[in-house]
Amino acid sequence: MRTIAVINQKGGCGKTTTVINLAACLARKNKKVLVVDMDPQAHATLGLGLGLGGYENTVYDLLLDAGRKDLGAGDVIIEISRGLDLIPSDVMLSAAEPALLGRDHREYLLADVLKSVEKGYDLCIIDCPPNIGVLTFNALFACSEAIIPMETGLFAIHGLAKLMETIEIVNAKRSFAITVNALLTMFDRRTRIAYESLHEIQKHLGGQVFTTVVNFNVRLKEAVSHGSPVIDYAPDSIGARDYLDLAAEVVRMKVRKSVAARDAEGQEKGVLFSFYAPHAEQVCVVADFNDWQPGMTPLEHVDGSGVWQRFIPLKKGAYEYKFLVDGTWVTDSTNPKVAKSEFGENSLIEID
Ligand SMILES: Nc1ncnc2c1ncn2[C@@H]1O[C@H](COP(=O)(O)OP(=O)(O)OP(=O)(O)O)[C@@H](O)[C@H]1O
Ligand SMILES: [Mg+2]
Repeated sequence: MRTIAVINQKGGCGKTTTVINLAACLARKNKKVLVVDMDPQAHATLGLGLGLGGYENTVYDLLLDAGRKDLGAGDVIIEISRGLDLIPSDVMLSAAEPALLGRDHREYLLADVLKSVEKGYDLCIIDCPPNIGVLTFNALFACSEAIIPMETGLFAIHGLAKLMETIEIVNAKRSFAITVNALLTMFDRRTRIAYESLHEIQKHLGGQVFTTVVNFNVRLKEAVSHGSPVIDYAPDSIGARDYLDLAAEVVRMKVRKSVAARDAEGQEKGVLFSFYAPHAEQVCVVADFNDWQPGMTPLEHVDGSGVWQRFIPLKKGAYEYKFLVDGTWVTDSTNPKVAKSEFGENSLIEID
């Protein structure tokens, strides 16, 4: 199961609209999809046609029960339509932050819940609230991919640095980085500011932006208040076309396994990447195994030593990489093996 968190702490940028319509379009493409509503506002629940209170259990009950297993995810999942299921939310979820205070591993509860259902679905799409708290962290620890919906305009990239920082915190605790892609929403092709924002976002995210943009389309607004995805409410609308295009792009994307590679004895295989840079602010490994995405796989500074390192589980194979040290690309001076590339040389490592 691919798990995608739709995340942005900025309010009203199109997260819920994206969750509902991407999920419905994926289901239309014969994928089995689970939507998880992690927002106490419960807009995804409402937008998928459920009236508030029309269901007994919510994601809140699952999170609180995680570890005790009195309640199974099956007791909470609601079938919305063919191929599309929902774990609903309601306002009680706003009590999660205080209720989970002091609970061990409280950021991994959703990941635990989803493990029990992953065999039944191709994709899981998580709607996040417009803030960074325990609910958003649960979504990030449960996902392998993130979509950041962004409105175009003067303040488009405001808050993006903070969001990327949050994702880095999560990445530093995992074996693989979350694949991040921004999605332009409420795009108005008639305005210059829309294209200027697009370029600015592309510059900031090094190209991690969906080719599909979602145009401003009033049918999307109407569909939500009607409690149905736009492909059902207005199948010929621009909104329906855009979200079908997005679903196709999501399906085409290369999926990176977030599972650590293990050999026959259960020993973890991989490489301990390390780099000596006592004065650096940030050191990352950028490689073919992380799609050459700058900043997505940071090394950790070993206190007081000047050494930066990180163990990365990797399967058998040959990998090319470089270090990115405060924005400068360098090869690994401790590794004599190199491979020629269009930009000069990369360090080369082989695992057998
Ligand atoms: N492409 C679009 N065209 C027109 N209206 C849109 C579009 N996308 C979203 N909207 C509308 O903008 C408003 C905010 O969208 P949405 O609820 O999806 O944002 P959100 O990020 O989930 O908000 P919150 O942060 O409150 O959860 C809604 O009224 C929605 O119908
Ligand atoms: Mg929302």
